[in-house]
Amino acid sequence: MIPVWPVKRLDSFGKRFKRMLAVAVGCGVALGSGAAARAASGEELFVKYCALCHGKDGKAQNPTARKLGVKDLSESKATDSEIEKQVSEGKKDDRGNLKMPSFKDKFTPEEIKSLIAVVKRFRK
Ligand code: HEC
Repeated sequence: MIPVWPVKRLDSFGKRFKRMLAVAVGCGVALGSGAAARAASGEELFVKYCALCHGKDGKAQNPTARKLGVKDLSESKATDSEIEKQVSEGKKDDRGNLKMPSFKDKFTPEEIKSLIAVVKRFRK
């Protein structure tokens, strides 16, 4: 004996299945783009978090940079570990006023590494 499903019920199951599939695909896309955002390239991070003061080309040619005394990164001789320290701890002037914010809560060690590469690429 083969149970015969009423055609109507089969049809509504098909619709529900399609909807479930759409939700699953939607979640997959959302998760995928989330992962992409977390793995932003050093260049993207620089534009987003550093260019405000350092300029997109790292040369600090803007009013904020002049006011804060931002260094021209294309002239910088800082080593990897100095760059890492500056980015994670930030910088205060002699009177304790903040010059550059600390980024250690913002970036993963990998992101800081990719930023070090970007900082050094500005050099001639
Ligand atoms: C609010 C402004 C500001 C932001 C945002 C900022 N910086 Fe700076 N940065 C400065 C200032 C000011 C100095 C110079 C500090 C000093 O007197 O040593 C500096 C210095 C540096 C130096 C040291 C250069 C050298 O040769 O000593 C590096 C490297 C650097 N910044 C990288 C970055 C990176 C990477 C980011 C983004 C994650 C960033 N900065 C975001 C203001 C900023």
